Amino acid sequence: MTGFTPENRHEQVVFCADPPSGLRAIIAIYSTALGPALGGTRFHPYASEEAALADVLDLSRAMAYKNAMAGLDLGGGKAVIWGDPHKDKSEALLRAYGRFVQSLNGRYYTACDVGTYPTDMDVVARECQFVTGRSTWHGGAGDSSVLTALGVFQGMRAAAEHRWGSPSLAGKTVGIAGVGKVGRALTDHLVADGAHVVITDVDEEAVRRVQALHPSVDAVADTMALITSDIDVYAPCALGGALNDETVPVLRAAVVAGGANNQLAHPGVEKTLADRGILYAPDYVVNAGGVIQVADEVTGFNMERARARAEKIFDTTREILRRAADEGVPPSVAADRMAERRMAEIGRLRTIRL
Ligand SMILES: NC(=O)c1ccc[n+]([C@@H]2O[C@H](COP(=O)([O-])OP(=O)(O)OC[C@H]3O[C@@H](n4cnc5c(N)ncnc54)[C@H](O)[C@@H]3O)[C@@H](O)[C@H]2O)c1
Repeated sequence: MTGFTPENRHEQVVFCADPPSGLRAIIAIYSTALGPALGGTRFHPYASEEAALADVLDLSRAMAYKNAMAGLDLGGGKAVIWGDPHKDKSEALLRAYGRFVQSLNGRYYTACDVGTYPTDMDVVARECQFVTGRSTWHGGAGDSSVLTALGVFQGMRAAAEHRWGSPSLAGKTVGIAGVGKVGRALTDHLVADGAHVVITDVDEEAVRRVQALHPSVDAVADTMALITSDIDVYAPCALGGALNDETVPVLRAAVVAGGANNQLAHPGVEKTLADRGILYAPDYVVNAGGVIQVADEVTGFNMERARARAEKIFDTTREILRRAADEGVPPSVAADRMAERRMAEIGRLRTIRL
């Protein structure tokens, strides 16, 4: 889906190239109805330009919904840098990228995503003032996975309450696929709450690191082994598309709540989940803690304020699950309706001339 087709609702898509530094980036702005578009920069070795474009379009749309749902005065955007972050990342490339972000004059604020880190944002910021997710020694919020994991935990608690009557994971078995920054921090919350945690990751070192800290955590070989085992909650915390035609039919969990973006592989999966009686806490609702953390940086970072806001993800998730039940629709549909309503109602206020 590209170009001026009716399905393409993006305001602006910018292709950025700087051959000497190797920069190939795409910045997608889905909506600025609520304010400047905010979303991270993913640095990833896509198989093709089409794959990079498809990803940035999906991710930027999700950011608009996420930021609207989190109650932020920010629109939705995202950027991808097409390349291998381990081989292609350099000062020149990041600074070239920063100049392109600057050229949008504040229509888009960037931050970290998979493959980019606060120290990278410090480099981007040498060319650009519209950067969040910077390191703490530059006044930034630092690693956004801290509040992302807290928000996922709060969303999972709300889903547990909806399903089992108590907002606690104590005594439940939670399966986490992907124990990187978010999955690892989520494990800490769950173990502290008394859950039994089972993990899997393609990176053996990531698994070892979690088990060294929490000897009670079990590990299985891969995601298929995890989702077909006896788990109560499934938390996808790796890449997108975790809920698809292969996984949903065999998923044994009664609840899905995880940190990964764009978990539903295609439209219709949310219905299959509902038909199987699996309660899905929508990804962009529960994983908004990170954007809440970096959004706070725009006006001067305060961790306590950001943490208090991320904890409200419990209330938001609870409200969405309640509305979904009342309206007889899957939770992701109820969430989209709420986000779209806020974008329309609050976005419209700018038509009142000042
Ligand atoms: N970091 C944040 O603040 C934040 C905020 C919102 C959403 N997210 C989303 O959460 C997810 C995780 O982010 P992160 O920051 O923890 O990234 P990360 O790169 O630190 O961790 C991802 C982990 O998933 C593992 N992984 C990759 N493919 C896998 C597979 N097929 N099976 C099992 N494990 C696999 C990787 O080895 C890695 O350990 C991403 O989808 C990201 O977009 C992150």
